[in-house]
Amino acid sequence: GSNGTTRVAVIAGDGIGPEVISSGVAVMRAAVDPSVGLEFEEFPWGSEYYLEHGRMMPEDAIETLSGFDEIYLGAVGWPTVPDHVSLWGLLLPIRRRFDQYINLRPTRLLRGVEGPLRAADAGALDITVVRENTEGEYSDSGGRIYKGTPHEIAVQESIFTRRGVERVVRYAYELATEKSGRLVGATKSNGISITMPFFDEIFREIGEEYPRVEATLMHADALAARLVLNPERFDVVVGSNLFGDLLSEITAAISGAIGIAPSANLNPEGTYPSLFEPIHGSAPDIAGQGIANPAGAIWAASLLLEHAGHAEAGTRVLDALEGALADGARTRDLGGESSTEEVTQAVLGRLKDAQ
Ligand code: NAI
Repeated sequence: GSNGTTRVAVIAGDGIGPEVISSGVAVMRAAVDPSVGLEFEEFPWGSEYYLEHGRMMPEDAIETLSGFDEIYLGAVGWPTVPDHVSLWGLLLPIRRRFDQYINLRPTRLLRGVEGPLRAADAGALDITVVRENTEGEYSDSGGRIYKGTPHEIAVQESIFTRRGVERVVRYAYELATEKSGRLVGATKSNGISITMPFFDEIFREIGEEYPRVEATLMHADALAARLVLNPERFDVVVGSNLFGDLLSEITAAISGAIGIAPSANLNPEGTYPSLFEPIHGSAPDIAGQGIANPAGAIWAASLLLEHAGHAEAGTRVLDALEGALADGARTRDLGGESSTEEVTQAVLGRLKDAQ
């Protein structure tokens, strides 16, 4: 925004969304010097809004959001609304209209968190999945014919464009350059014989511009197994919309719990706002009890600050979160007994100590 103020649109959403988002907003307010300025505006969109208005968000929502620098989202979806309605009515339009073509899913085994893998120690697992976020397998193109008959046919087309593949692959090479220099591309060119060889070709072509990156293509199925067996070997992994979705779910799972991992939906050019969220959903089973793990929302807040030009504050937030977890401020999903509020207070306390 103008005069250095970052304007953040907050869509807390459904279920535990509002519980974890208020925690993340409190942490951001504490981490950034008030004179620098972070402004939050809340939008009450989601499933309740849908039941009242017949839409997940107002007709001019995209226009409204375009006036913001960043979007901070909790979770959308509730049992009373079909999941494809909540997804196609809010998240997907935001991702697509704002051309958020990178879905960045960093995972790390944080101190104080016990992962499900016997051999993994904190530090041994530090993987970022770069997922294509605007095309690929998640297209709305296709249809069904002979409905309800024994001859019924369903066709859904995958859309891979040169521009779309090039830009996500290039982003991943750049990220690998900043990190360890190791990059794996997820393919399946043995079974998917048209789009995946196309992906591979572009992956190799762009690789020629990055001779220092050690780049490998792996079939997504074998890669899924490798991520579990040898997570320490991986750093940056890039994949199509579907493969990136599945593989990042694995990396999130091996890093401890679904409540920890964040996700950034980026428009790298900054033409449009980017969106930051925890990866988990609205968790109807625990909503309203004050026991949701706010770690994923706090980590997402750290990514938001970094993206908004407050890199140092972003790092302090992640450090404070890790310190709080290591001190034992853990919710039940991590084997602890703390409430959402107690974890939040522990993180805020650490932020204060760090100043
Ligand atoms: P979910 O992530 O909401 O819950 C799965 C399991 O993980 C539940 O047992 C839940 O209690 C637990 N869990 C999730 N987050 C947690 C946290 N922060 N702390 C402690 N435990 C946590 O996935 P589910 O049940 O498949 O989906 C519920 C709703 O959320 C659906 O309507 C779905 O469409 C929506 N959803 C929305 C997403 C988004 O907004 N990006 C992502 C995933 C699901």
